[in-house]
This record gives sequence, C-alpha cells and structure tokens, in this order.
Amino acid sequence: MVRLADLIKQKMEEARKAGEYPDKPQEKLKNKAELAKAICEINKAKSEESCAYYEDVRKLIKEAFFQLSKDSNFELASIKDIVSKVVDQLVIDGSKLLKLAISKPAPEDYIICHSVNVCIFSIEIGLSMKYNKSDLNTIGLGALLHDIGLAKMTSIFLTDPTKLSSTDVNLLKSHPLVGFEIAGKYVDIAEDAKKIIAQHHERYNGSGYPQALKGDAISKFSQIVGLANLFESKTHPRPGRKKMVPYEFMKELFTHEENLFATDIIKAMVKRFGIYPISSWVMLNSNQICQVCDVNENFPLRPIVNVLFDAEGKRLSQPKILNLAEQKSGVHIKEAFGETDLIIGEKDIKKREVR
Ligand SMILES: [Fe+2]
Repeated sequence: MVRLADLIKQKMEEARKAGEYPDKPQEKLKNKAELAKAICEINKAKSEESCAYYEDVRKLIKEAFFQLSKDSNFELASIKDIVSKVVDQLVIDGSKLLKLAISKPAPEDYIICHSVNVCIFSIEIGLSMKYNKSDLNTIGLGALLHDIGLAKMTSIFLTDPTKLSSTDVNLLKSHPLVGFEIAGKYVDIAEDAKKIIAQHHERYNGSGYPQALKGDAISKFSQIVGLANLFESKTHPRPGRKKMVPYEFMKELFTHEENLFATDIIKAMVKRFGIYPISSWVMLNSNQICQVCDVNENFPLRPIVNVLFDAEGKRLSQPKILNLAEQKSGVHIKEAFGETDLIIGEKDIKKREVR
C-alpha cells in the first residue's frame, strides 16, 4: 500500500519541478492550507480504499449481529483483523473514513452503521489521546461490538422511544450486560474491550446505566466509546428524532453535558474533531459557503475549509482551500448548517426556508 507521507512527498516534488516551490519545498509543507490541498487531492485517490474498509467492517458486524440473533457464534478473527486495518488507516489518514462516519445516512440497518461509526469515532478520540496501536485495537474492537447486546432486540431499538412500554425500556437498558455476557464466551476479546461493552452507557456524574457507576470507576476506554456513542446517536437521525448538526453537539457538550465525561476525553475529542468537524457546512462572515476539510488541532474554531460557493450562493468554478487559522483579515465562521438546511445544486446553493 502506498503511504500518505510518500504521496505528499511525491506531490511536493512534482510541484517543485513545476516551479511552484523553487526554493525550499519543505518550508511550504508548513503551510497547512497547501498540505490540506495536497491531502484533499490524495484523498480522492484513496477514497475507494477507505470506502472499501467501511463496507468490509459493515458486512462483518452485520453478519455477527445476524449470527447472534440466531444464538450462534460469530467469527471474531476477521473482525479483529479489520479493526486493526481501520486503526492503521486512521493513523495514516482518517479524513475519508471520518467523513463517511459523520455523513453516512441511517439506512434500514441503522444499528450496523451506528456500530461502524462509533468504532471510527472512538479510535479517533483514542488517537488524540496518544494511545498505542494495541490499545487502539482494543478501543476499536470494544466500540464495534459495544451494542452486540442489542442483536436480539433490534426491533425495540428501532421503535420511537416515546412509544416504548416500561418493560421494553428496561429490556433495552439491559443490553450492556447482555452484551458483556455474550462477549464473555470469547476468550480472544480483551477484558478492557469487554468492559467497554458493559460500561458504554455509564456516565462520569453517575447518571448512566446499568450500574450508575461514577468517575474513575468507569474505565477510560468505556468513557471514550461512551462519548463517541453519544456523538454518533445525536448527529444521525433516529426513530422519532431529527439529527443534530455536529457543531450543535459540540456546543451542547460544553453547556449541558460537560460532566457526563472526564475533561481529558472531551478535550481529546474537540482537539481531533474541532468545533466544526470535518464535512461540516459553514458560512463565513464574507457570506461564502464552505465545507470543512480538515481541522487545526490548536485552533478548534478555525478549521481548514473548502470554499465552494460565493457570497451570492453561486458555485465557484475553482474551489478554494482556506486555512482560517492563517487568515489575518478577520475571516471567520459566522454560521454552521446541517446538510438538510441547505439545497445544494450543481450551480448554486440556497438556505432552506425555515417553516
Ligand atoms: Fe448501547
């Protein structure tokens, strides 16, 4: 497999030969906008590979859920193998997989895509916390399997929560322990991954379930997956609920849900995802409309954006990469949108009228 670093090197070499960087090309690499431009171009080439990984994980976890629904065992080795590959991919370049996980619509097999997305988000938070490969594999495996306790209750899970009976609610709330019991049959699932399955709905302030554990009684990995799980659930549509724009989730996390997770985990998520996560639609104070294509880890409010539409909403013939952390003229984000707030045409973009 061609490494991203080699591709960037090759890209910069080509640019140098073309005279774009006649002196010190490596200095230009420090300009994150140029780097992001190179990454965006390379991402196009790597897009198919990342999509294939997403599909592979989806198929394997779907099969596992199917087997568990029939009280059969699932094939663990291939699941562990694909999680390890996803970790490698996210270490090299997570943008495409992250974009897929953020924007993947909820299809009929919602719970399956949810598991894949939570796996990707959890590994990303783990990466931000500088965990090693072995720990990232454990986080990824626990995250992918976190809801296996739901394998026999998907119909309840897919019902509008306001229409559930108290018996159904109690059954649903038992899924972490049911999952833990299932995982207990597999000696090759690490104890820390099993803990994730049992504790992913516990909350730092003790408001979670099933055991109402508090503070450090909840493992770090479980808290990581808990936060990834909450982010995924709220930013994707669910029965009886509209999805939230990722930016709104981040705002809510700081205002109302700060004490649900340890501060270092929230900080790690914001560092890696930014306040406007990758693929967010934003409007600048110049009224240009852009899509976030990368984050600046030290400037969460000032990501790197791809300017796609001008102030009148007309599509630019040549999209422009703008690193908002490097703008001295005060260019900043004025507003963030969900995709459903916009009517995105080939030639223009409009804000949907609020009824
Ligand atoms: Fe769950």
